[in-house]
Amino acid sequence: MADKGLDPQDWAAFRAEARRMLEASIDQLEQAAERPWQPVPEDLQARYEIGQGGDLVSRIERDVLPHHGGNIHPRFWGWVQGTGLASDLIAGMAGAVINGNLGGRDHGAVRMERAVIDWTRAKMGMPEGSSGVLVTGTSQATVIAFQAARVKVLEGVRKDGQGTARLVAYAGEGVHNATLKAVELLGIGSANLRKVPLINGRMDVDALRAMVAEDKAAGALPFLVVGTAGSVDLGLFDDLDALADAAADEGLWLHVDGAFGAWTRIAEEPYRSLSDGIGRAHSIALDFHKWMYVGYDCGLVLISDEAAHRAAFAARPSYLEGADRGLAGGDPWFCDYGIDLSRGNRALKVWCALEMNGEDAFSDAITDNCRMAALMAETVKAQPNMALGMEAVSNVCVFTARVDLEPEAQSALNAEIAQSLQENGEAVFSTTRIGGVMMLRAAITNHRTRPADIGAAVAAVARLAEV
Ligand SMILES: Cc1ncc(COP(=O)(O)O)c(C=O)c1O
Repeated sequence: MADKGLDPQDWAAFRAEARRMLEASIDQLEQAAERPWQPVPEDLQARYEIGQGGDLVSRIERDVLPHHGGNIHPRFWGWVQGTGLASDLIAGMAGAVINGNLGGRDHGAVRMERAVIDWTRAKMGMPEGSSGVLVTGTSQATVIAFQAARVKVLEGVRKDGQGTARLVAYAGEGVHNATLKAVELLGIGSANLRKVPLINGRMDVDALRAMVAEDKAAGALPFLVVGTAGSVDLGLFDDLDALADAAADEGLWLHVDGAFGAWTRIAEEPYRSLSDGIGRAHSIALDFHKWMYVGYDCGLVLISDEAAHRAAFAARPSYLEGADRGLAGGDPWFCDYGIDLSRGNRALKVWCALEMNGEDAFSDAITDNCRMAALMAETVKAQPNMALGMEAVSNVCVFTARVDLEPEAQSALNAEIAQSLQENGEAVFSTTRIGGVMMLRAAITNHRTRPADIGAAVAAVARLAEV
């Protein structure tokens, strides 16, 4: 082992290398508009083989930075992906050198995570004293929330398992797959996730009440209703106040999947009121890495009943026992609120984002993204052969490039257009099926998008639709 362990033998040389890396990183951000996704070169895999050595920063500049997933570009609107922020670079540097493990103990990063959770809780309108934990994303947040709901209704489940109890959960048609995965993982079973029909894009609350009554009569144990704030396909919102009322009447835990749409809470009207009532939920799952644009990964689960949250996860073997003072102090520990014992420092990214830009900048960007979706919808409507899949409600616009073709031909054309635009670097749409037609879909969670990007992308679709 060299004298300095794995630290650089020559700090001056390391400083110079790190500065080169910093410059290359800032170039990447400053020139994001000139750096769209590009097809992965055939030989890239081989270039990543371990053991090649050489000048690391040059290799990163050549083999890593150009081959990103496209979501840094102003015309990227595929799936639901955030853009990233310049503040992530600063947070990344500070985070790397303190190398925090936020499972517990008493150190600054833990205090910062509490501050981030509490700021978000207040924005969502959840009561003081609610608990939370930063996680990889909404998928993991959903598992944590459902487990808290399950332990609340079946106290012995951690020890004894579910036994013969048939727990039933409810969610609107179009609920994200994360909900399905969570009920499967927790042994509730996908057959016990009942899909409630929608009326005008919102869960039919009367139908929900009728289904709950039916299941109760059949001896099942309805325990959970999942509201959606921002559906993945169309950006639709359930009536969360009506769901909170129904949940209270029926004795259900109300969970809200607010992966991106929860952030309408800090948007201007008319978008803010889409998520009215979200603060009445028992739990909310949301992401900072989508519509707060913070770098991956960074999600949050909030739970209004801290005791229920702890009851679902707290368990510490003796080697993790806390103390009144010293490093092992700092109760509560985050490992008692979720799945992970070792946890990275996600809060720093959020804190840097808010401290560098200010909350108003996020409010403006989120509002502007909704306006960009509305602009895209207007631009599409002005094209002779294009049509919307549905009016844009929030930040999602779904449309077909040629409404005058048969559904199958429309689907094939839309899929082809999406691929061509991705490959030539003009824009990234993803696709989704609406009414049997595969359509182009833009979910705008991109603070770099400007009106000119919308015009250019729709013009590019029109050009490809005519050939
Ligand atoms: C509405 C909704 N819920 C859940 C998820 C899953 O979130 P994550 O990818 O952060 O796990 C997504 C992802 O796009 C989503 O749009």
